[in-house]
Amino acid sequence: MAEPHPFLAACRREKTPYTPVWLMRQAGRHMEEYRKLRAEYSFLDLCKRSDLAAEITVAPVQKLGVDAAILFADILLVLEPMGLGLEYSKDDGPVIRAQIRSRTDVEELNDFEPQTELSFVFETVRKARAALDGKVPLIGFAGAPFTLASYIVEGGGSRNYLKTKKLIYSDPGAWKALMERLATVIAKYLNAQIAAGAEAVQIFDSWAGCLSPADYQRYVLPYTRAAIAAITPGTPVIHFSTGTAGMLKLVREAGGDAIGVDWRVHLDEAWAAVGHDVGIQGNLDPAVLLAKPKEIRSRVEEILNRAGGRPGHIFNLGHGVFPETPVDNVTAMVKAVHELSAR
Ligand code: CP3
Repeated sequence: MAEPHPFLAACRREKTPYTPVWLMRQAGRHMEEYRKLRAEYSFLDLCKRSDLAAEITVAPVQKLGVDAAILFADILLVLEPMGLGLEYSKDDGPVIRAQIRSRTDVEELNDFEPQTELSFVFETVRKARAALDGKVPLIGFAGAPFTLASYIVEGGGSRNYLKTKKLIYSDPGAWKALMERLATVIAKYLNAQIAAGAEAVQIFDSWAGCLSPADYQRYVLPYTRAAIAAITPGTPVIHFSTGTAGMLKLVREAGGDAIGVDWRVHLDEAWAAVGHDVGIQGNLDPAVLLAKPKEIRSRVEEILNRAGGRPGHIFNLGHGVFPETPVDNVTAMVKAVHELSAR
């Protein structure tokens, strides 16, 4: 039998010859290949052109030497078929046209079949799998219910999430309806990615850290748990969030075979908090990749030391790679992880 790939083995907390590594947002603006295509096409057009999206998915594997590819797509793509109106503006990031303020607004959202309305994503999965040819596994992904809800309610990114929190506190029934709807959409969308060939999936709860642990427990955890519980069994799930060092036990309760953490917590402390019966992913500060290779190497070593060679560590950044990151620094990081963790 062929050796399982180190990334998938680590997701199952099996021993690996070295610690596998990939980078969140590796298929994006720090890559020259991406910037070239982006000069010609809008971001949404690139997502919808499955041939180009597959090319962008595969490029970092060849160039950076990472142990997994992540599908080129976006967490917000599901908002378009829900009838919310999605645009990516040059200066303000994503803009969502609809305003969700009540239960009626939630009830008016479109029910849709990802298989048909987002078929371009699954086409990308199939083409990327073919191009990867078994070299490294392909990770699919979706936003977590809270992070998606925050974009929907705020109409875009936010600093303090005041509209979202106001809805939670003033109309918990509407919030529940929205979160239930999103949990269903996310599970269906991920299962369709898995059916098309995604070998692991990551759920991004990028903004959960704006909440108190009590609010997370009450207004977020049940819905993330429902989404994760509905994912096709046998496919590893990585549950990522940022700013959640004070509530990692709750994050873990929501589910996931591995928990992704940011750099605001020591990796060993985070792992102890979630329990050693799940894997851990992280957690280099992405800003470290702006330093010199020697400094990067020593920061990599610190994190590997905290992981202590325990099976189940997937090396990653604590959040997405910055667009201004020199590619040579990324390859230095990947090389350092492989060399320093070789066993
Ligand atoms: O990891 C990868 O490289 C694969 C593709 C991927 C994108 N977005 C492509 C993208 C992934 C995994 C995402 C996830 C995503 N999208 C998250 C969660 C991760 C995180 O960073 O917290 C979030 C919150 C989004 C929503 C989103 N999409 C924002 C806020 C923005 C604008 C700001 C930004 O980072 O550019 C996007 C646009 C986006 N998504 C781009 C890319 C390559 C840039 C588009 C461009 O070229 O202008």
